[in-house]
Amino acid sequence: MTDIPQKMFALVQKLDGYSGTSEGPRITTLEPYLEAGEIAVPQPGARQVLIRVRTASVNPSDLHFIKGEYGQPCQRGVPAGFEGCGDVVAAGDGAQGLVGQRIAFAVTQGGSGAWAEYALTDASACIPLRPDVSDDDAAAQIVNPMSAMAMVGMAQEAAGDGGAFVMSAATSQLCKLMIALGRDRGLKPIAMVRRTDAADPLRALGAAEVLVTTADDFGDRLKTVFRDLKPAIFFDAVGDQISERAFAAMPNGGRWVIYGKLDPTPPELRDLGQLIFMNKRIEGFWLTRWMRETPPEKLGAAVAEVQARFADGRWKTDVTAHVTLREVMEKLPAALARPDGKVIITPS
Ligand SMILES: NC(=O)c1ccc[n+]([C@@H]2O[C@H](COP(=O)([O-])OP(=O)(O)OC[C@H]3O[C@@H](n4cnc5c(N)ncnc54)[C@H](OP(=O)(O)O)[C@@H]3O)[C@@H](O)[C@H]2O)c1
Repeated sequence: MTDIPQKMFALVQKLDGYSGTSEGPRITTLEPYLEAGEIAVPQPGARQVLIRVRTASVNPSDLHFIKGEYGQPCQRGVPAGFEGCGDVVAAGDGAQGLVGQRIAFAVTQGGSGAWAEYALTDASACIPLRPDVSDDDAAAQIVNPMSAMAMVGMAQEAAGDGGAFVMSAATSQLCKLMIALGRDRGLKPIAMVRRTDAADPLRALGAAEVLVTTADDFGDRLKTVFRDLKPAIFFDAVGDQISERAFAAMPNGGRWVIYGKLDPTPPELRDLGQLIFMNKRIEGFWLTRWMRETPPEKLGAAVAEVQARFADGRWKTDVTAHVTLREVMEKLPAALARPDGKVIITPS
């Protein structure tokens, strides 16, 4: 550990536990949630690795988390940031084989976050990287790509060969991955977006139909497209009244899978007969649970396909800005306001 310093620059959480609020991932200032400064570099325990961070992504889950609104509690004084890419520089017992490798990583509970010069996580949450995957693509290699693999797999099972599935917030990085993967697997992705200018790029990516929720003819198009394509499953990151309208327009047996809460106000269910007489279902998806419950050989195959898709260009991470750790407090909120891509944090 000779070239590892005692101290590092990091963005540490200010809150502890859960806040009980439900504001959603929008951020105008980071002051209430994060503090920038020098802290001790963490030491890896058994089966843990210390990573010198190259790039870290900023996902909506990170923003929910620092506000105390995520599925696991805040920890005051611990760096934020759920995923990134870096080099393993030290390891505890049982993880020495990773030292020296460039990896993509997710930060597990008991670890130390990616919005820092060094991060700490379990060896099992690290993916050794092919050299042809860039540091930017590798920064967002787990949360969204693995969710895309999981949910498109669910769509294949629910819709069958050539069937259709629907997505809200379809301009998101995750939905762009799902659209391309769905098209490649012979499915018909239906994209719901709120911006008209997003329609053509999503069609080019593989969307069979794009429904613009803010357009005057949205209600008519929703009915026509759902009648013609009969989507079996709806992946919803928004959870607003438009989501409920889409669920109501689905055919018998339709499944509404809620995996995000981008709108802070939950929708009202206006027709419970949909559940009773039309056999429709409402459920949730959380990657953390899917990873826990999926057999290791299926997970391994998904990881390999994710890297192959980034390496050969079938997938890419759209990056709107790079922000250094020291710039985050001042520049991240404005950078996040730009549409159509990820903000990547770099150490310098
Ligand atoms: N449950 C899980 O395991 C899991 C895993 C991964 C991701 N997620 C969720 O997936 C979602 C997408 O993640 P991402 O990283 O791909 O996001 P992202 O690239 O940052 O994109 C966010 C998207 O949300 C849209 N949006 C925000 N607020 C909206 C609203 N009120 N109504 C409609 N659209 C809205 C934006 O649309 P505009 O382009 O119009 O601004 C943008 O396309 C997030 O909710 C995230 O938490 C969940």
